[in-house]
Amino acid sequence: MATVVEPLTNRPLTELPAWKDLEVHFQKIRELHLRQLFAADPERGERLTAEAAGIYVDFSKNRITDQTIELLLQLAHESGLRARIDAMFRGDKINSTENRAVLHTALRAPRGTSILVDGRNVVAEVHEVLERMGEFSNRVRTGAWKGHTGKRIRNIVNIGIGGSDLGPVMAYEALKHYSERTITFRFVSNIDGTDFAEAVRDLDPAETLFIVSSKTFTTLETMTNAQTARAWSLNDLGGDENAVARHFVAVSTNAAEVSKFGIDTANMFGFWDWVGGRYSMDSAIGLSTMLAIGPDNFRSLLEGFHKMDEHFRTAPFECNLPVLMGLLTVWNTNFLGAETVAVLPYEQYLKRFPAYLQQLTMESNGKHVTLSGTEVGYQTGPIYWGEPGTNGQHSFYQLIHQGTRLIPCDFIAFGQTLNPLGQHHDILLANVFAQAEALAFGKTREQVKAEGTPDWLVPHRVFEGNRPSNTILSDRLTPEALGKLVALYEHSVFTQGTLWGIDSFDQWGVELGKVLAKRIIPELDSKEEGKLEHDSSTNTLIRRYRKYKEDSAQ
Ligand code: F6P
Repeated sequence: MATVVEPLTNRPLTELPAWKDLEVHFQKIRELHLRQLFAADPERGERLTAEAAGIYVDFSKNRITDQTIELLLQLAHESGLRARIDAMFRGDKINSTENRAVLHTALRAPRGTSILVDGRNVVAEVHEVLERMGEFSNRVRTGAWKGHTGKRIRNIVNIGIGGSDLGPVMAYEALKHYSERTITFRFVSNIDGTDFAEAVRDLDPAETLFIVSSKTFTTLETMTNAQTARAWSLNDLGGDENAVARHFVAVSTNAAEVSKFGIDTANMFGFWDWVGGRYSMDSAIGLSTMLAIGPDNFRSLLEGFHKMDEHFRTAPFECNLPVLMGLLTVWNTNFLGAETVAVLPYEQYLKRFPAYLQQLTMESNGKHVTLSGTEVGYQTGPIYWGEPGTNGQHSFYQLIHQGTRLIPCDFIAFGQTLNPLGQHHDILLANVFAQAEALAFGKTREQVKAEGTPDWLVPHRVFEGNRPSNTILSDRLTPEALGKLVALYEHSVFTQGTLWGIDSFDQWGVELGKVLAKRIIPELDSKEEGKLEHDSSTNTLIRRYRKYKEDSAQ
């Protein structure tokens, strides 16, 4: 039975014995260079690695010793990570500020298992929805589902934002190799009308199906885009309201709002309030993914998630990939003072993975108070960002190699390419290995001088090195591998959040801007000067915008 979970310990993180030991330990090893650590320990690159569920993580190029890992593991135990993992998987209401269970792991639990939330077995409900999604996807993919005029669907447009967009876009791009190429997929998220206009400009409404994806079905951007899509469809389909049922389906937890919009709830695919938006790509929010890659591949994706879930739930912390990655992020953030993590996939299909991770990591761990509401006394979630390799190398890597900031990197690569072309893959992989090597070991003044570099140029050509990185390898980018990779990061984020003692599953920080925008919208139309009651900057900006509007109306 789900219960509300109190914070595990009221003892601040920085007062735990392991934290104190880590502070002392850090002072001892802070000057050590990765060159020394590797030179003194020939086995390091084999030992400081871990492998599970077909994912290999080399974390040896972090500024750590074996003792660092021991102390971080101790910190995990003292922070109550084991109990917190158990509570999450059990369905306890660990999202305490919203009084909700956190059960994205139930979305990929095998049929026949049981997880109870408020007395209901949610796994059975998950599989019912998956069945309906599968039937619907097959009908659309085979052409059995027809549009209002009898034409088959050739275009699918997902309308959603945040977790109702970033996961679907990322998964579509990541798994394009497996996708149905006769169907065009587009994604509309931004309230900027350009997003919708460009997405549909070459599409035939008679062949276009919209998936309106919104957990709440009240999000301003999504509802505005959905209304625009409705008008765009009906305008071309003779204004017949019956067309909506053939061209719109909804993914939501809010059946009442779906009905109000005019979508038949028979064409609604549900999920539940225990799925956070940024943890929802494997719920019905993944409908566009299933339409693209088919139900069997979607089930492989879920199996991948589940394998990593089981690893996270059961493996001892010392060989638990998400735990180790989470602990290293805490180390880099709180002891080395790193402010960001660069995620660098050497796999073109993962080009949207960094954008996806930005919401997963920063909406989860961008918090300044602990579960008990007290101000944290340490940094929390770092800034995640990145681009696929090798493009980044010719752009921002200069700063990572020689700038003044410490930027830990996650390199992600696959042993086998999905598009074997000449030597491309060897060159790609040589680059990923070379970058991690260069960051760790750099190039000394002596080495630069020995190359005959004039003295004045030497400082410019020195690479300090000692820049930490993880290298994450797997054999091949399959739906299953993608599921494992996403779950790896989900659980790493959870590990970090648990140590920091924060609620990784709420997002109150997005509220204020939404409220203020709603207040400003009518003011942009108003001709009554005197009514603006914001600060002088906001008032002036609003007046200037009104002037632009007036000018364009003339
Ligand atoms: O504004 C943030 C947020 O609430 C995200 O957490 C969520 O993924 C996104 O908005 C979209 O919400 P919805 O799916 O309810 O439209």
